[in-house]
Amino acid sequence: MTSTPQPRHAAPRSPLRGPALPLGLAVTAVGILLSVAAAPVATSAQRESPMPEPVIVAEVPAVQVGATTAADPCSEPSVIEAIAVADDAAIIAGFGGGERFRAAVVAGNAPCIALDDPAHVWVVVNKARPLNPVAFAPASLSDMPLEMTTRSRQARTDVAAAIGELAAAAAAEGAGRIGANNGYRSYDLQVSTHASHVRSSGQAGADAASARAGHSEHQTGLALDVVACSPQCGEIDAFGATAQGAWVAENAWRYGFIVRYEQVGSGITGYKPEPWHLRYLGTELAAAYHHGGYHTLEQFFGLPAAPDYAH
Ligand code: DAL
Ligand code: ZN
Repeated sequence: MTSTPQPRHAAPRSPLRGPALPLGLAVTAVGILLSVAAAPVATSAQRESPMPEPVIVAEVPAVQVGATTAADPCSEPSVIEAIAVADDAAIIAGFGGGERFRAAVVAGNAPCIALDDPAHVWVVVNKARPLNPVAFAPASLSDMPLEMTTRSRQARTDVAAAIGELAAAAAAEGAGRIGANNGYRSYDLQVSTHASHVRSSGQAGADAASARAGHSEHQTGLALDVVACSPQCGEIDAFGATAQGAWVAENAWRYGFIVRYEQVGSGITGYKPEPWHLRYLGTELAAAYHHGGYHTLEQFFGLPAAPDYAH
């Protein structure tokens, strides 16, 4: 599979700028001054790399009028049929593909799409957007077909299949073996995971590396942490510097995943970079994310930055 030309390389741009829209659609960008003083501060006790320089200015896509071919995509028969059977890929296709889906959501032209519904690939979970319900559990989980380094070995069934395809492609293309550390984590497991980080790193250090319970993508079954396994499986912290890490950063989108926490986006997400944390969006949305040059899901869907918890 080959990559299409990338608009993000067309001209000097802010790394957090929204996409150059296809089809000649007019777009304006709104500069947003982010509060950097409130961003989590790394402590010397942290086990992982220090917090990167905070992002000062980000731009998000403005509301786009006429971004979809349908005046009301939610009333399209194909969308209505796909919603009835909860087929996310078919719903996105009914909107006209990933970019048109995204643009309709950002424009407020998709009332049938809820970004807080954890049963769908488009859910956005962050420090300001807890899971709803807070103890949500996915309907269908399967073991991931990878070498696992913990007992947290499951993901949503479609995600488990997709990560298997990703790992097979990485190996076939010479990047080496990919395994996984954590997949699905229940609310209760996230409680103990975050508490462990607090014990070792303090509250601020923990909040820069681990989501509080009810705020983790791992609880949706859509996220997992990958490791390099050539020859032995390593730790997540080492992943970014491996051949597998480079391959994943370049190619994960082809299999429906994004690297959710990049350094450039840490002022928006409030997390230190996690090159190992993959979030499944499905191939249509992941392609739109990649081709649009996005670096956070918040930008992608025109949502506010969420570097801190309210309480
Ligand atoms: N490490 C990520 C932020 C999580 O705990 O979900
Ligand atoms: Zn993770």
